Amino acid sequence: MKKYIVMFIAALCLASVAYAADSQIWGEMRIQNILGYGQEESWKLGPLFTMLQHKYFAWIFLGVLLGVPLVFFLHYKIVGPKVFPHSHNKHYAFNLFHRTVHQIAAVSFLVLLPTGFIIVFGDFFGGGTLVRMAKNLHGLFTIPFAIVVIPMALMWLKEALFNLEDVKWFMILGGYLSKEKQIINATQFNAGQKMWYWVAILGGITMILSGAFMFFLDFKMEMLHNITGLSQIDLLRVAAILHNVMGFAVVALFITHVYMSMFAIKGAVHSIITGYVEEEEVKILHNAWYKKLKDQGKF
Ligand code: HEM
Repeated sequence: MKKYIVMFIAALCLASVAYAADSQIWGEMRIQNILGYGQEESWKLGPLFTMLQHKYFAWIFLGVLLGVPLVFFLHYKIVGPKVFPHSHNKHYAFNLFHRTVHQIAAVSFLVLLPTGFIIVFGDFFGGGTLVRMAKNLHGLFTIPFAIVVIPMALMWLKEALFNLEDVKWFMILGGYLSKEKQIINATQFNAGQKMWYWVAILGGITMILSGAFMFFLDFKMEMLHNITGLSQIDLLRVAAILHNVMGFAVVALFITHVYMSMFAIKGAVHSIITGYVEEEEVKILHNAWYKKLKDQGKF
């Protein structure tokens, strides 16, 4: 398995280099090509893009970066974490494959996020080597995430489908505003986790595609040109707008995900490291799943 993953990454890297070498945008025609892009028939999204880029994107990112942790800091201080014993019965919920896929996604994100912020605040960091390095690492660490996003989508798809119980979960925000340990009738993944799943998967795929579009600049997609009628430069602007807007949601929910699994539910993070979930935690927070496991004699 490891051998195939290494071969796949190597093939991907070679294909990128071969593509870039053949690409006009990286060669002598760079400036002419960029100028040419704006001359084609198109929606001319330039002013909209410039306005969003200059006035809003960086500020919204800053708001997410500071605002979301602040809300959770207050939650931690006012409501406090939910603490479950970790010495009782356990159920093996995440096998080695689940854990490996998840850990690759986690490591990728731990590089993608800070490097993404350095790119967004490139002016502040003074441009140059640091920002260029961040851009290259951002592109590089997209590869492992791109490799695991589909396996992750498939392995948790069934658990991530919404049901009517999820409406109730949203109405009480999963009981996270209460200091009490309320019994929540959720299945293996509660509504909040399902929401993260969909944002991570669909948002993640959107980020990969829009990111690749920007990374390779003249990655010509005739079909997209024909369907949308957009010139290459406008497609790039759409990619940049999508990458930013999706980025707000992905970053906000990623911070939420990490807060939940590392702070709000003390010790929950162990489940994705060892594979085991703790009985009381499952009984309180995922009662429907608990009943099913109990019936199957797994607790
Ligand atoms: C430092 C980073 C991360 C930590 C500490 C972390 C922690 C966890 C934990 C503890 C679980 C099991 C939840 C449970 O059953 O109670 C989990 C599940 C999950 N993780 Fe992560 N994770 C991280 C990064 C990521 C990333 C980058 C992605 C995807 C892009 C991701 C996607 C998911 C999904 C879809 C689930 C299943 C649904 C859910 O529990 O929300 N995680 N993670």
